[in-house]
Amino acid sequence: MTHNIVVGAQWGDEGKGKITDMMAREADVVVRFGGGNNAGHTVIVGDEKYELHQVPSGILYPEKMCVLGNGVVIDPVELAAEMEGLEKRGVDLDNFYISNTAHVIMPYHKKLDRLEEKRKGSEKIGTTGKGIGPAYTDKVARRGIRVCELLPEEIFQEKIEQALDYQNLVLEKVYQAEPMTVKEVKAEYQASIDKISDHVTDTSILLDQAHREGKSVFFEGAQGTLLDIDYGSYPFVTSSNPTAGGVCTGAAVGPTLIDRVIGVAKAYLTRVGEGPFPTELQDEIGEFLRDKGHEYGVTTGRPRRCGWLDIPLLRHAVRVNGLTGLALTKLDVLSGLEEIKVCTSYQVNGKKIAEVSGTSEEYQPQYETFAGWDEDITGIRKFAQLPENAKKYVESIEKMAETPVEIIGVGPDRKEAIYRQQ
Ligand code: GDP
Ligand code: IMO
Ligand code: MG
Repeated sequence: MTHNIVVGAQWGDEGKGKITDMMAREADVVVRFGGGNNAGHTVIVGDEKYELHQVPSGILYPEKMCVLGNGVVIDPVELAAEMEGLEKRGVDLDNFYISNTAHVIMPYHKKLDRLEEKRKGSEKIGTTGKGIGPAYTDKVARRGIRVCELLPEEIFQEKIEQALDYQNLVLEKVYQAEPMTVKEVKAEYQASIDKISDHVTDTSILLDQAHREGKSVFFEGAQGTLLDIDYGSYPFVTSSNPTAGGVCTGAAVGPTLIDRVIGVAKAYLTRVGEGPFPTELQDEIGEFLRDKGHEYGVTTGRPRRCGWLDIPLLRHAVRVNGLTGLALTKLDVLSGLEEIKVCTSYQVNGKKIAEVSGTSEEYQPQYETFAGWDEDITGIRKFAQLPENAKKYVESIEKMAETPVEIIGVGPDRKEAIYRQQ
């Protein structure tokens, strides 16, 4: 019986879906504890590619229970479509559960997300436009709608009426936008509520039962440490806590139950959306990483900004998550580069800084240069068989991050990985 967490150690898209799918082999239950359909997690199994937004990445194993915890925000329309898409591909959803106290992303949240980004103009966050920020805002402001309030219909109707009293004021007075009607909101959501309602339960009790029965539970993070509302590059962050602490508040699990926390980091660094990125490469190496690593967002299709690995930020992720290990993905993408740089500290106003708890445009990265390798490493399954320079690169990262690299990704398929203990 173990309780393990996987979190993103960077700005999201580190390969959490793939690592969850791989590690979930040994788990009985897979739980998402935060974020919503702003996430896009890719799992590749042979010729089949799955892009999961809300359903946990453990769903591809028929015997596992998959849970959306209370810390997640749920878009019923997109969740129902995702569930239908999976069912059409033969994925069994009998063992999929949704927390009754998770908050619902409503149609006005999506509208407000886009209107606010437009209002901000050049100061925009670069959100996914999925309504995440407004949904979490309403949760904290104590005017949100929870999954348990979607049914019965009269309760939902009442909740929409109350919500629109406020939301229409904002739409009309702040954004000069069209108000929404109860009828249109209800109509937009009705079919999908019917689709998801059989899966709704008190997941807090469900997870406690699983624990008492000695089951192993795996918590799948979304987004990443640098997008965390508290520990990220504020204000260019998401509106939740994707770091390890989010498991306690987002899945009703106490910290004493957690055994391991694995941070997923790419062997380089990417970011979608706006905000500072000290090691960003706006040159042909950045393009090489984007092309070779297929660095385009799963949720929005936007090209990801690419840069060198940033050790001060990785050390920050190790600290705030209490990482017990790292999964270093996409090492294969670096094959073919003559030199690989790693940011080991910054210069700020003439001073050297090696420990940071956030990032800034002011930080000038100081690099250490490593020799690259040419070999294609996607077929390698044992650390000892990696090219010497690739081994040196990985060993240097674990030394600098003071955290063992337990898994190395050498390709997108679930089989394309090296487990260090082997
Ligand atoms: P997530 O949001 O953290 O689950 O990551 P995404 O799925 O958004 O982005 C990661 C991308 O990298 C996906 O296209 C994966 O298929 C791919 N990927 C994951 N691990 C590896 C790896 O080790 N090597 C390569 N080449 N691709 C990988
Ligand atoms: P996964 O789980 C990468 C980014 C957005 C934007 C900021 C705020 O696939 O790693 P939001 O819509 O959440 O209000 O946007 O956060 N962002 C992500 N970037 N991967 C993600 O998820 C992300 N989820 C949100 O691009 O910069
Ligand atoms: Mg992603």
